[in-house]
Amino acid sequence: MCGIVGYIGKKNAVPLLIEGLKALEYRGYDSSGISVIDKKIETIKASGKIVNLIDKLFKRPINGNIGIGHTRWATHGEPNEINAHPHQSREVAIVHNGIIENAKEIEAFLAKNGYKRKSQTDSELIAHLINYFYNGNLLNACLKAVHMLNGSFAVGVICRREKKLIGIKYKSPLIVGIGNGENFIASDVAPLLPYTNRFLFLEDGEIAEIDEDNIRIFDFRGSEVKKDISTVDWTKEQAEKGGYKHFMLKEIAEEGDAVRNTLLGRIDDNISLEEELKWNGKFINNINKVVLVACGTSYYAALVGRYILQNVAHIPATAEVASEFRYENILLDRNTLFIVISQSGETADTLESMSYAKSQNIPTLSIVNVQGSSIARMSDYVLYTHAGPEISVASTKAFVSQLAILYLFTLFLSRTKRTLNNQQLKDYTEELLKIPDKINETFEINLQKVQNIAPYYSQFKNYLYLGRGILYPIALEGALKLKEISYLHAEGYAAGEMKHGPIALIDKTTPSVFLIPPSPLLLNKTLSNIKEVSSRKGEIIAVATDKYEKIEDAGLVLTTPSTDLIFSPFLYIVPLQLFAYSIANYLGYDVDHPRNLAKSVTVE
Ligand code: AGP
Repeated sequence: MCGIVGYIGKKNAVPLLIEGLKALEYRGYDSSGISVIDKKIETIKASGKIVNLIDKLFKRPINGNIGIGHTRWATHGEPNEINAHPHQSREVAIVHNGIIENAKEIEAFLAKNGYKRKSQTDSELIAHLINYFYNGNLLNACLKAVHMLNGSFAVGVICRREKKLIGIKYKSPLIVGIGNGENFIASDVAPLLPYTNRFLFLEDGEIAEIDEDNIRIFDFRGSEVKKDISTVDWTKEQAEKGGYKHFMLKEIAEEGDAVRNTLLGRIDDNISLEEELKWNGKFINNINKVVLVACGTSYYAALVGRYILQNVAHIPATAEVASEFRYENILLDRNTLFIVISQSGETADTLESMSYAKSQNIPTLSIVNVQGSSIARMSDYVLYTHAGPEISVASTKAFVSQLAILYLFTLFLSRTKRTLNNQQLKDYTEELLKIPDKINETFEINLQKVQNIAPYYSQFKNYLYLGRGILYPIALEGALKLKEISYLHAEGYAAGEMKHGPIALIDKTTPSVFLIPPSPLLLNKTLSNIKEVSSRKGEIIAVATDKYEKIEDAGLVLTTPSTDLIFSPFLYIVPLQLFAYSIANYLGYDVDHPRNLAKSVTVE
């Protein structure tokens, strides 16, 4: 998820673009750049934070009253200066937020017409494509280019020969800000609030042709579109959170898109990871064990990964806590694949665990959200999640994105090792593709419900979270969410373990949160656990799909759309995240910055 801003008017665009990028830094912060038109296109770019770009501009000032700016969250290509935006191609410069799925095809087309990509990004191809079609009319060139692009793209375009600013929107956000004698484009309202509160919100398949006094909107067929002006009365900070009170709630709301973007380009008729991993059949067939290592929430994702690798791909797998694994000196079999999972890509214990595996010449694969992070750079192979920047300390959208990669990887191994037949593969893949919408639906179903019950459930000091099988890691993760942001004690436990000790804790002061497996086989066992608790006056909260929501002893049932047991982790974690959020919010805590915690534990 990157940040885009553009300006056309009578002022020098540079200070406006820089202030705009600062307001967008939460959308991505691994590199940035601006381009302005001052007779020709002048571009300054820098890796790292925006302050580095400001330093470069100080040393080499540029001016122009038409310009575009970009702060990057790398999805394709290392976070360095050459990959930073804007990307220029002769007459035009562009900034892009999104993923071009058919980049290879576009690159081949451009190569045949004399264009050679300089960066590793898919975005640069958009600049070349628009320049290829440019013949004196920028709007027409853009209209031709967009018909060749697949994927998601919000694009800002300027051209040295025209006093125009173009904004293109398709499956990535882009808005037009309306000023007096000046106009703007941006990824969202935050960067424009100092200048205007009047906006045109572009829909997918729309393109805006803008000059300092006029704004015309067209659909991709070139037909003009009339749009109403919207006004927004947010503060800048509210705008950065998309109107949500905390980043955590915004990031839970983004989980469906985070999973969708992580799957994007990796599933066509089949799960296709060969190209991204550059693995051959021999390497894959040699893998006879998988060891997954991580910390915290990422470890709970690893536990889900272990479960599906063993039960779906029938590959022996273990999941280890990094801070324990790294001191055990386990002898790793040479046909082991070592997988580390980390949102930040900087967690010290995880990094050290991977170093240990590498010292034994074991192939290492990392599942990471931050492009170019230490763990990503050190691993032999990397599969990036595309969750976008996760600002809140409590990990939410990164977690479901890690699950998405683990399911993709499991189905990929199952296909290559033939542990699933074609029909099973097809069924699993079809359900995986439905998960983003089901996550969004789960969010909508439960958001208001958890806010209504927060006053009551915030008065309890201890909770038990109970799950079986693939839902046991979700019980652990749900308990962690409540612990880390509401400071209430919560313990995740295997439901079948209740009678081996934890049931001694049950009385009316300790609610039990049961994850009801959407599986007739496991359901009855869990219902009998519930009976054991309710007969001891224990409060019951249940999470269940809408097919199993009639849980008579539960004082609260948080429901999800129906799905297979194997995919239930994606959906069941959402009500638990919302439950924790609503209690912490009701208690008035700093949800995004919980006490004693940091977003990335880079120390041991
Ligand atoms: C999760 O909500 C916590 N913030 C924490 O447990 C986190 O998952 C853990 O520190 C691992 O971080 P990583 O994924 O960046 O390696």
